[in-house]
Amino acid sequence: MTNGDYLFKQVYDYVLHRIELNEWREDEKLPSIRNLAADMSVHRLTVLKAYQLLKQENKIYAKDKSGYYVHSRAKSNFENLDNPIISAYVQKNHLSEIHQIPVSYDFSQALIDPNLLPNRYLSDYVKKVFDLYSKVLSTYSTIQGDGELRETLAHYFVHHYKTITPAENLLITTGSTQAIHLVAQAFVKARDTILLERPSYSAAIDIFRAQGANIVTVDIHPDGYDLDQVEFMMKTHKPRLFYLNPTFHNPTGYTVSAAQRKQLVQLAEQYRCLLIEDDAYHDIYFDQEPPPPIYTYDTSGTVIYLRSFCKYISPGLRIAVMMGHTSLIKSLLAVKSLADNGSPLLNQKIFLHYFASARVQQHIEKLRIALQIRKELMERVLGATDWRWTSPNGGLNLWVQLPSHVSTEELLAKSLQQSISFVPGQICDPLKQTSSWLRLSYSYSNEEQILQGIRRLIDQVHIPL
Ligand SMILES: Cc1ncc(COP(=O)(O)O)c(C=O)c1O
Repeated sequence: MTNGDYLFKQVYDYVLHRIELNEWREDEKLPSIRNLAADMSVHRLTVLKAYQLLKQENKIYAKDKSGYYVHSRAKSNFENLDNPIISAYVQKNHLSEIHQIPVSYDFSQALIDPNLLPNRYLSDYVKKVFDLYSKVLSTYSTIQGDGELRETLAHYFVHHYKTITPAENLLITTGSTQAIHLVAQAFVKARDTILLERPSYSAAIDIFRAQGANIVTVDIHPDGYDLDQVEFMMKTHKPRLFYLNPTFHNPTGYTVSAAQRKQLVQLAEQYRCLLIEDDAYHDIYFDQEPPPPIYTYDTSGTVIYLRSFCKYISPGLRIAVMMGHTSLIKSLLAVKSLADNGSPLLNQKIFLHYFASARVQQHIEKLRIALQIRKELMERVLGATDWRWTSPNGGLNLWVQLPSHVSTEELLAKSLQQSISFVPGQICDPLKQTSSWLRLSYSYSNEEQILQGIRRLIDQVHIPL
């Protein structure tokens, strides 16, 4: 896709999304071509082209010499719009819609099989926490998160990455989903431009979209980014932030090199663009530890670091941490106080005592071996096809390209009938193009399910719809 195509698609998506959210209502006048072009830093012809396509699709109409208006028929294309009060607030999480469909072979969840998680041990720590803190259920956490937990995590980061961040600069969140949400609310206003990887973590796309962001993208490749493209996008669009997942990236599994990490920080400083580093998979590596987080190269407060512990310790406890410069954490704290006034104290204390124990390291080491075995098994079964992927060195997913005539959206429809699910590439694409890519998680299913389910999935490609 050329840069012109990207820009066109972004304007088209932006306008359509405002109509979908009912922010621009039936018969309301759209911004003039000149104003929207200026707001979105694109050429007027790009806006004209997007308006013309929307007109052709009956989403908008033109009045002579007056401009473009929202068409009444636009509404019928969007779900849940009967009730105008509800319709103004409808937001989508495409990934969770797939997760809610019960299936026997679930390759859509980037989660770890509960049989590989420390369920048995965690109950010991529940008891310990109630013994140690008799009032734990009658007390709120501080908004920023339990002090003891923040101190422990601050030491952990010094020990692992030689990065000193005081506990005052840590903020405990209810999973990194909440952390992304807080970033969006604290730093992004409607129409602000932000930069995302293409593809990207689907829920993050939905969160930033719901905030009304104007999304521009850079491609992520097996060896990282094309830094010229990153620089071009930063220079041209002046994004407020770049949300990125540079270590065992979801959905691709790719990892950005140490050299690129350093250069990214320099670019972000030069163009005054916040880097939001989402690092949910750092510890889930197979042969070799990944490079240190981008955050460790930052000396000027350009990076906000998000680290979730949900995936490999306990999704049920929902513990993640954000780290960053004092002024950034201050803004995030204000939003966090409005969100929930602090994450549950009981969860933080249980997590703290388990995380500080020697058992964690043993658990992670065993987990890496189990996940590598499952990944290799999935790759072996897929080896019978002409599908292509780059084998990841960590993380939970394979990002697989099918022959170009296969639409993975259609394949999903067929597969669900056979009780198999996966994530179609389109929902990981901020530009929402149809795609022959899909994400297969090898971490949630056991070996028997992988063997049978992937064989069945391969069969679906040859069965007509
Ligand atoms: C890149 C990335 N960020 C964040 C999350 C959400 O994690 P959490 O469970 O901490 O909300 C996920 C989950 O799949 C993810 O892949």
